[in-house]
Amino acid sequence: MRNFAKNLTRRKNATAVIEDYREDGNIQGTNLVRNLQFRDLVAFGIAAIIGAGIFSTIGNASAAGGPGVSLLFIFTAIACGFSALCYAQFASTIPVSGSAYTYAYASFGEFVAWIIGWDLLMEYAIGNIAVAISWSDYFTAVLRGVGLGMPEYLTMDFLSASRGFHEAQTLLAQGRALSSFPTHLQEAFLAWQNAPSLAGFKLVADIPALGITALITYLVYIGIKESKRTANLLVLLKLIVILLVITVGAFYVNTDNWTPFAPNGLAGIMKGVSAVFFAYIGFDAISTTAEECENPQRDLPRAMIFTLVICTVLYVVLALVLTGMVPFGELAVGDPLAYVFSRVNLDAMAGIVAVSAVVAMASVLLVFQYGQPRIWMAMSRDGLLPSAFSRIHPKHKTPAFATIVTGFVVAIPALFMNLTEVTDLTSIGTLFAFVLVCGGILLLEEKQKAATAAHKGFRVPYINGRYVLPLLVLTTVVLLYRFRAAEVSAFFSLSGGWESFQHKLPLLGFIGIAGMLTVLTCIRKLSLIPVLGLLTNLYLMTELGLTNWTRFLSWLALGLVVYFAYGYRNSKLHQPQ
Ligand code: ALA
Repeated sequence: MRNFAKNLTRRKNATAVIEDYREDGNIQGTNLVRNLQFRDLVAFGIAAIIGAGIFSTIGNASAAGGPGVSLLFIFTAIACGFSALCYAQFASTIPVSGSAYTYAYASFGEFVAWIIGWDLLMEYAIGNIAVAISWSDYFTAVLRGVGLGMPEYLTMDFLSASRGFHEAQTLLAQGRALSSFPTHLQEAFLAWQNAPSLAGFKLVADIPALGITALITYLVYIGIKESKRTANLLVLLKLIVILLVITVGAFYVNTDNWTPFAPNGLAGIMKGVSAVFFAYIGFDAISTTAEECENPQRDLPRAMIFTLVICTVLYVVLALVLTGMVPFGELAVGDPLAYVFSRVNLDAMAGIVAVSAVVAMASVLLVFQYGQPRIWMAMSRDGLLPSAFSRIHPKHKTPAFATIVTGFVVAIPALFMNLTEVTDLTSIGTLFAFVLVCGGILLLEEKQKAATAAHKGFRVPYINGRYVLPLLVLTTVVLLYRFRAAEVSAFFSLSGGWESFQHKLPLLGFIGIAGMLTVLTCIRKLSLIPVLGLLTNLYLMTELGLTNWTRFLSWLALGLVVYFAYGYRNSKLHQPQ
């Protein structure tokens, strides 16, 4: 039993991690020259962050929360900011270009590393499914614009078509005309109605999403590497298009649309959590450049925070412009940035936005499709996955097998899955990774306290949480009782039986953890920033609903099965008794 526990916490030594990275570096063609400066890091961050979130999922979030969703963008950015500082500390403590997986392997041992690695696979794979689906929405809008529209059943996922069709049927039965339905319902209705059937099964699938994933996977397979210049041009394109939307859109804002500011209350705003959080995913990727930065200690944290600030300002203003241009309920479309302009009859502008979005999102797809096989590869090199995942193509010098697997893992679900579902899963997985990274920093700090080791590199600024945290908790409780007393007592009432109780489990879990962490913070004088990072990200997770928790926990459980069936025994660090 002691041996088992020891195996779970076996650690890779930091020198081995750096050696491994050097090998990876050669494969990726990087020469490990420290030439990245602050400006490059910010460009890299924006390249990874601005994608489907802002071009697409912002639509559904605004449709549920109204203009008030802009506040959610601010809150989420704060939660991400805490995690960014924690990521920066890890990256400068173990300055390799690995990911949270690598840091965890060197600091906390194999088991935690496996969980993070498995979780990152979910973030990258499912996140890319979402980007592929959104790309398809914009691509088909462009095609329609030039008179090359495809039948709806070839551009939509099965679930959305089936659900939309049944919703539309109910409305038709109430005597409403199809043309009066929101666009997404009309499309779903037509997709389902016109789709050919095979053995009673409707053939509805998102073919462009499959096509773009196959194309990008091929490019990654043969080893395409965006040059710094192309990447910077793409970043510029994204920024220009978003600024254009904001500037031109501002002239069409009707301030009446901003009242009421939160038409569906706090609950409506919080429905957008996963969509809004999704829009920020990617800043963590900046930390993977640690070994190529001229001055990682100084530049990494600054670049992450600066990138977050830029994106937050853009997102907040954009959310206000979109909800000002059309009534919020209309924004439940896959291509909201183009949609608002066609709504105000600026078709040329809608076209420009759609074409830019197609290019911009393809680049996000490339970044994540490139990164993902390299996580499989890192895990395989450590023996936690079969060696095929780290096999390198003799000619292209890329992890060929892992790249192909990645292609299938993204392309097949992209045919059938629904955007909201994949965004939710990506967000819950990534939030969990952030919670672990913040928790990791707390543990690291404790260990260093014990060893009184001098810390080199960037360190999350220490603010003693002993007094501030209890004060914050107390203020929150008082405010809740003052302004939302009815909801609070409904939450703690036991009426409704198991059916209603199970939905409260994530929040109850959060309350328990928050209570314990507050006590611990008082006793051990824990550092405030990682504690707040852990709590805010965990809170956002509780907003994602039981279904997402169940799916997420099932994914983790599957990961444990794979680990104990394979990785535990085959780990390079395994020493048979
Ligand atoms: N933040 C990235 C996007 O929105 C994942 O596409």
